[in-house]
Amino acid sequence: MNTITLIATTSFGLEAIVKREVQALGFDVVNVSNGKIEFTATPGEIPRANLWLRSADRVLLKMGEFRAETFDELFEQTKTLPWENWITQDGQFTVTGTAVKSKLGSVRACQSITKKSVVERLKQAYRVEWFDETGPEFTIKISMLKDIATLTIDTSGVGLHKRGYRTLAGEAALKETLAAALVQLSFYNKERLLIDPMCGSGTILIEAAMIARNIAPGLQRKFASERWPGIPHVAWVRARNAARSAMDQESELQIFGYDIDEEAIRASKVNAKKAGVGKNIIFEQKDIKELWIDKPNGILISNPPYGVKMGAFQELNQIYISLHKTFKKKTGWSIYILTGDKKFPDYFKRARPDRVRKLFNANIEVNYYQYFGERPS
Ligand SMILES: C[S@@+](CC[C@H](N)C(=O)[O-])C[C@H]1O[C@@H](n2cnc3c(N)ncnc32)[C@H](O)[C@@H]1O
Repeated sequence: MNTITLIATTSFGLEAIVKREVQALGFDVVNVSNGKIEFTATPGEIPRANLWLRSADRVLLKMGEFRAETFDELFEQTKTLPWENWITQDGQFTVTGTAVKSKLGSVRACQSITKKSVVERLKQAYRVEWFDETGPEFTIKISMLKDIATLTIDTSGVGLHKRGYRTLAGEAALKETLAAALVQLSFYNKERLLIDPMCGSGTILIEAAMIARNIAPGLQRKFASERWPGIPHVAWVRARNAARSAMDQESELQIFGYDIDEEAIRASKVNAKKAGVGKNIIFEQKDIKELWIDKPNGILISNPPYGVKMGAFQELNQIYISLHKTFKKKTGWSIYILTGDKKFPDYFKRARPDRVRKLFNANIEVNYYQYFGERPS
């Protein structure tokens, strides 16, 4: 079977996590760069990559990469790529693009040249002059970076964070892909106790429960490449069936979510049920001031309000003080806090953070403060 190159795209800072996920699925990683993990696969493995990657944004099929400093070069080299292997005669295709530090700096012009060149190639391949574009969708992306053009077709369609379970979300809800990454960075496993005392719509805990029960994150949704004839239909059926059988139906989890807002708790319950983990998480309305911890070990992952919009200084202060009071002597607890407030470590004084990871939450720079707890005996 043909070997192809796929690119799992990711937001800044999550490359190592996505690389690990790609390798855990058994793929060979060939290159890692900013926001991109390249790996080899076969066309029949596209379904598995889309169904299982938890922290990647999309899976792109790499068509080619070359240096292009003029529009002629871009046109001619794009035309040499075998677009007809993937794009059907009735295929609808659009071209999106980005251009960074390149002589071909106009994204619009790059998109238009790419489209013209692909049309030219397909005209010759299919021996027609006109395309109806009524069939499957193909989104081509031209990325210019330092005069290197990378051409891809998006196999995912809607971003992979859209799992399909989050019908209700608060305005500050985390992307599911980022929430999954936070859980993976916390070393949570199904034996551990996990809480989020400011859970909002429950994203972190729902992702954790899905990880614990080995539920494929994409199982409830559709992907753009499902209608591509280049991927055998049976590969989709098999990948979905395998994912259903891989689910852990037995394990009992200890996951708890709290929020001061009754509406948020209602949303969390609805979302968890929709994700198939309604029975695995206990949600309760509670102010963090009332949080009472009697277990010596556990993991806390949370994303407190921050910024002018989300909470006044006084409220934030109260939250930090509550966290500090509750956990200052609970050295068996690992604490993971995602916030844009750089003052957080000044208030949570149990110790200096063991690690601080710079990430982006909806384009806002945030830090993931990690305080490791003592291992359970
Ligand atoms: C940034 S949002 C969390 C979003 C969540 N991670 C998600 O993906 O939906 C912060 C949450 O903290 C909650 N909150 C604010 N003050 C609180 C308090 N004193 N006790 C508990 N929760 C609080 C808010 O109601 C809000 O839902």
